[in-house]
Amino acid sequence: MKGERILILLLHLFYFLAPPACCTCTHQHKEDIALCLTSHGLTNFTTPHSPHYNHFLYASLNNLVFSRPTFLRPTIIILPHNLDQLTAAIRCSTQSSLTIRLRSGGHSYEGLSSTAPAPFAIIDLMNLARVTVDLKTNTAWAESGATLGMIYHAVAVAAPNLGFPAGFCATVGSGGHFSGGGYGMLARMYGLAADNVIDAVLVDARGQVLDRAGMGEDVFWAIRGGGGGSWGAVYSWKIQLHPVPKTVTSFTVVRNGTSTDIAKLLHKWQFVAPKLDDEFYLNVLVAPESANRISAQFRGFYAGPWARAQATLTRVFPELGLEEDQCNESSWIEAVFYFSDGKSLLDRFDDPLRGFFKLKGDIVREPIPPEGLKGAMERLVKMPTGGFGCIPNGGIMHRIKTNAIPYPHRANNLFEVSYFVSWSEEEDGESDTYIDWIRGLHGYMTPFVSKDPRACEVNELDLDYGVMNWENVSMCDAWKVAKSWGERYFMGNYERLVRAKTLIDPNNVFRHPQSIPPLPKSCRVPAFPGPLYD
Ligand SMILES: Cc1cc2nc3c(=O)[nH]c(=O)nc-3n(C[C@H](O)[C@H](O)[C@H](O)COP(=O)(O)OP(=O)(O)OC[C@H]3O[C@@H](n4cnc5c(N)ncnc54)[C@H](O)[C@@H]3O)c2cc1C
Ligand SMILES: *[C@@H]1O[C@H](CO)[C@@H](O)[C@H](O)[C@H]1NC(C)=O
Ligand SMILES: *[C@@H]1O[C@H](CO)[C@@H](O)[C@H](O)[C@H]1NC(C)=O
Ligand SMILES: *[C@@H]1O[C@H](CO)[C@@H](O)[C@H](O)[C@H]1NC(C)=O
Ligand SMILES: *[C@@H]1O[C@H](CO)[C@@H](O)[C@H](O)[C@H]1NC(C)=O
Repeated sequence: MKGERILILLLHLFYFLAPPACCTCTHQHKEDIALCLTSHGLTNFTTPHSPHYNHFLYASLNNLVFSRPTFLRPTIIILPHNLDQLTAAIRCSTQSSLTIRLRSGGHSYEGLSSTAPAPFAIIDLMNLARVTVDLKTNTAWAESGATLGMIYHAVAVAAPNLGFPAGFCATVGSGGHFSGGGYGMLARMYGLAADNVIDAVLVDARGQVLDRAGMGEDVFWAIRGGGGGSWGAVYSWKIQLHPVPKTVTSFTVVRNGTSTDIAKLLHKWQFVAPKLDDEFYLNVLVAPESANRISAQFRGFYAGPWARAQATLTRVFPELGLEEDQCNESSWIEAVFYFSDGKSLLDRFDDPLRGFFKLKGDIVREPIPPEGLKGAMERLVKMPTGGFGCIPNGGIMHRIKTNAIPYPHRANNLFEVSYFVSWSEEEDGESDTYIDWIRGLHGYMTPFVSKDPRACEVNELDLDYGVMNWENVSMCDAWKVAKSWGERYFMGNYERLVRAKTLIDPNNVFRHPQSIPPLPKSCRVPAFPGPLYD
């Protein structure tokens, strides 16, 4: 823990020192890149002195921690409108020696799409958000700046009987979300968003445009769950759509009680939710209600009518006390709307969850004993803005092979826990109080969650697991350093990702503090398992 804290401190210190040191070169980069972009016909970009710079910088930044003035701000924000312009944006950024930050929905928990430790360009994909549905093959092409809400909406307009399995929050971007996996209420029925990507168009570091055949199967495998920002810029995704019934059921049940009461309910949930039929999804969000009471909000979905959902749930989970007035029978797209808390599916900037926060994730392999859960509740009541969500695995997620895509948390994953804590802008000066609390809770949970490694999802990216300083690391050692997070996110798939990275981006153009490192041919590493090159 101490080592992790020191790394974080160093990182902050580095960011703090970065802006003054780079003022002059920032100006230099700006001149070069503006010329380069306009010569390619790309005119939609903004630099620090233009009037819309702040608007475009913060419009889709979800975690406001990363709007602190201590972070280096981008030299330029580029908003390509088509594939040619995306290619030009990448070529011009690399020619100007700017680090690239691709931004789709801007929901990276650690602000990785909006900050960098060295002069950088944000390539914001908000103008690449077209979705076209093909009803002959039940597939769609989505540009990677499309949000989940835009994709759900476009599919429902074209075919109300088809859906797509991805996350809940409408403003999350498909660029980052599909790159890391993408879990939502159809996951137990159809898998992750990334499991349902069947082709893609990628722009690599040299500006080449590659489809699945062009990039090859190793790279196509890597971009579906190997994490955003490591491989190249995904321009678009081809996704497989799936049937959804005409009538589906959504429900919310809120219970409150003492730590003991809620621990009992949660304990039972662990035996029920991961084992329900594939058509079910039942999560629970636990948060303090007062100094000695906890509330548990259960949110459920069933791909079928209410009567069938109710018959099953009252049999296997009578303690839930599900009643008809807590249920909402609707079409699939209305259920999507229900889960996005009634927010517009099309407004990418209308984000109810934007704020200052820290999240940490865990994978749980065995049910947690009631006393373990009770201890977690006792920590919750000390933090009014803290909480955690439990997200069930199971269904088809347990039947997909751990190496089908880089995302490995399948049969060995009973459920996931996401711990969170938030604070206001005024409290941001004391953010350590909140961060210490969430790290404390995460530490407390150690005996109850996955070990060797303690696993989590790459879409719950957490810099507490270490950061790479690309300026001073030896490229022959980088793959060993990156194991610290790579094995937590990808487990046994980590080495294949290093191979794929070496194929597609040997010069490590697409990098961030937790990206996958390439392993240069010149390095002799007998310790590296398996062949590096085909
Ligand atoms: C409020 C909220 C709700 C969430 N709900 C869910 C959920 O229900 N289910 C779930 O599984 N996850 C959920 N997440 C996590 C979310 O899936 C990840 O944070 C995801 O990476 C965000 O994608 P983005 O495009 O919005 O973010 P961004 O910050 O834009 O991107 C994330 C990373 O991917 C890179 N990237 C972006 N676009 C591209 C591209 N086109 N090509 C290559 N790399 C790219 C970025 O550089 C960055 O490193 C949620 C997160 C938040 C903040
Ligand atoms: C650039 O894109 C933004 C976002 O769509 C748009 O509001 C703006 O008008 C565009 N600017 C130019 C110069 O095309
Ligand atoms: C807590 O639960 C009790 C019933 O167990 C209920 O009467 C009360 O309204 C609930 N409180 C809140 C704030 O939901
Ligand atoms: C059902 O959900 C829809 C969509 O969120 C909402 O408009 C409607 O009010 C809900 N109905 C009930 C009875 O909760
Ligand atoms: C690289 O720099 C970081 C701080 O920026 C430092 O902690 C680390 O020890 C350095 N590593 C090497 C190998 O010099």
